[in-house]
Amino acid sequence: MNVAISLADLVAIALFILGLHYLNAPPTARLGNRLAAVGMLIAVIGVLVTTLGIGWWAIAIGVILGGTIGVLAAVKVKMTAMPQMVALYNGAGGGAAALISTVEYYVYASGSNPIDPVISVSLILSAIIGALSFAGSIIAFLKLQELMTGRPITYPGQQFVNGILALSAAAIAVWFVATAGTLPVWAYPVLLVVALALGVLFVLPIGGADMPVVISLLNSFTGVAVAITGFEINSTLLIICGALVGASGTLLTVLMGKAMNRPLTNVLFGAFGAAGGSEPAGGAGGGPQNIRSASADDVAVMLAYAQKVIFVPGYGMAVAQAQHSVKALADQLEKRGVKVAYAIHPVAGRMPGHMNVLLAEANVPYPQLLDMEDVNPEFPTTDVALVIGANDVTNPAARNVTSSPIYGMPILDVDKAANVVVLKRSMRSGFAGIENPLYEMPNTSMLFGDAKASVDALTAAVKAL
Ligand code: TAP
Repeated sequence: MNVAISLADLVAIALFILGLHYLNAPPTARLGNRLAAVGMLIAVIGVLVTTLGIGWWAIAIGVILGGTIGVLAAVKVKMTAMPQMVALYNGAGGGAAALISTVEYYVYASGSNPIDPVISVSLILSAIIGALSFAGSIIAFLKLQELMTGRPITYPGQQFVNGILALSAAAIAVWFVATAGTLPVWAYPVLLVVALALGVLFVLPIGGADMPVVISLLNSFTGVAVAITGFEINSTLLIICGALVGASGTLLTVLMGKAMNRPLTNVLFGAFGAAGGSEPAGGAGGGPQNIRSASADDVAVMLAYAQKVIFVPGYGMAVAQAQHSVKALADQLEKRGVKVAYAIHPVAGRMPGHMNVLLAEANVPYPQLLDMEDVNPEFPTTDVALVIGANDVTNPAARNVTSSPIYGMPILDVDKAANVVVLKRSMRSGFAGIENPLYEMPNTSMLFGDAKASVDALTAAVKAL
């Protein structure tokens, strides 16, 4: 039986690794997701079989409850609410690691044997990191779901308070290991409270565009906590799964930071946008100037007689669910011999790969999706850059306004196209809460309205030409 379980674990682990590999590219991402899901099913069955006779029914109830919530969430949650869903799932992982440590601690505390040093180190670390990740993820969820302010919450002495809490947690952890887990009864609950408080206070000063980065960081914390829990309860499966999550979360955090040109220290301690806000865009703080508004008919003529059009999707396309309409417009233009491509910024939308997922759903051919490095040299020879609900990722201030919070972030060079048409509802700013000088440039026109309605109007007008 043990050999069969080990083999099942091995198959599950291989499927997780293959799944991650296939998630690398849009054409294979669905397969990757399915392989990883099958791996998880095999892993859960393995755990159920090994626990037969020892409360297996409790695990079965957990699987049914968790599975039902997972299926309902996957069906109901909107694409735009994905980051907060990831935050919740991530919190559940961290919380589970902390709970396992807590149960293990009280099992040891009720016996008379001292805890083995490896187990005491892993127990205390997974309790601290898991509780921190749980509390931090819940705050991230509340911020993104707008159940509390999404702005950074700062106060004097914040880093000092966080430092004291981190030192207190470290001191109790060292004490725990040094005494082989024989602490006074109050110490372990106090440690948990300190770790939870640290999680809350660590995420409070983070806000705005940094939230998805911090979720990815918390994700890597959860992976580390789960891997350490694997040492605690002697589970190779948990060690490897946790390591995979920890490593991929860390890589994703680094890549997102690079794409936004934000060092991790700035994300954690920089309080992005604390002084900013969702203000109207415009020049030099004086409000919008020289804004040209165009009608759907004007833009349709521009598009229909162009040779090359690049679609630049952003968060607004996701909100409007305009991806199918965008594909229909592209089809119309291609029928007329217009060359069409899509410019994909690595942090467009609210999660990594957001635009790829939406456009894949609308059956946009993958070769038409061009990454930022590949598409930027194309803009100077483009007749129309059609910006569909994208804002920050097209903001030229990132190139030359040193005081801008997004200064240094690589952007899509849409302003280098002969004509730029921006589809959005108003002059309000994007996620970073800053003005976008693109809207005042002489080659830019604004087509105001919901992105789906505007794109549908463009398709109808192109058809009518
Ligand atoms: P944003 O800068 O957030 O701009 C989106 C624009 O869409 C808004 O200006 C909004 O203007 C418009 N919009 C919203 N709903 C719309 C609708 N129904 N129809 C038409 N327009 C609509 O988006 P972006 O350019 O994609 O940039 C993403 C931001 O998220 C960046 O700041 C990035 O750093 C941040 N971020 C993303 C990630 C990932 S991984 N994607 C990670 C970290 C941070 P109106 O309100 O005027 O319509």
